[in-house]
Amino acid sequence: MSQRTLVLLKPDAVARGLIGEIVGRVERKAGWRIVAMELRTLDRATLETHYAEHVGRPFYEPLLDFMASGPSVALVVEGERVIEGLRALAGPTDPIAAAPGSIRGDFGTIVRENLIHASDSEESADRELKIFFPGLV
Ligand code: TYD
Ligand code: MG
Repeated sequence: MSQRTLVLLKPDAVARGLIGEIVGRVERKAGWRIVAMELRTLDRATLETHYAEHVGRPFYEPLLDFMASGPSVALVVEGERVIEGLRALAGPTDPIAAAPGSIRGDFGTIVRENLIHASDSEESADRELKIFFPGLV
């Protein structure tokens, strides 16, 4: 089942020079394609929409500040079971709990600075793709 998912390489990943490393892992998965990709510093309005489910949580404000602190890379990846596959490639939210071999497990220690976002379901992917790439057909 071919799907599309929204991926963000967060400001820590970009600042640490990990764009190539992370994009390379995505590219090497058989049959997956990057269909859109853009470097941009995310604005507050975009982040509020993207993280609406977390409003009021204690980590919400520091998360938005961090996500607006520098450029991110937004990508659309298309391919077989790519939603589940990118969540697996990323690893669990807490990088210390993430297995070595996953992106968060290999490069992260801090929950907030966990390098990558990937849509967690078809519904989230539909919603998030419209936020970041409204013109994509
Ligand atoms: P969440 O949607 O739970 O995780 P994921 O990115 O794996 O889908 O949370 C969104 C982001 O919020 C998460 O990537 C990092 C940040 N966050 C914190 O800073 N502290 C926390 O306790 C949690 C749960 C998330
Ligand atoms: Mg999430």
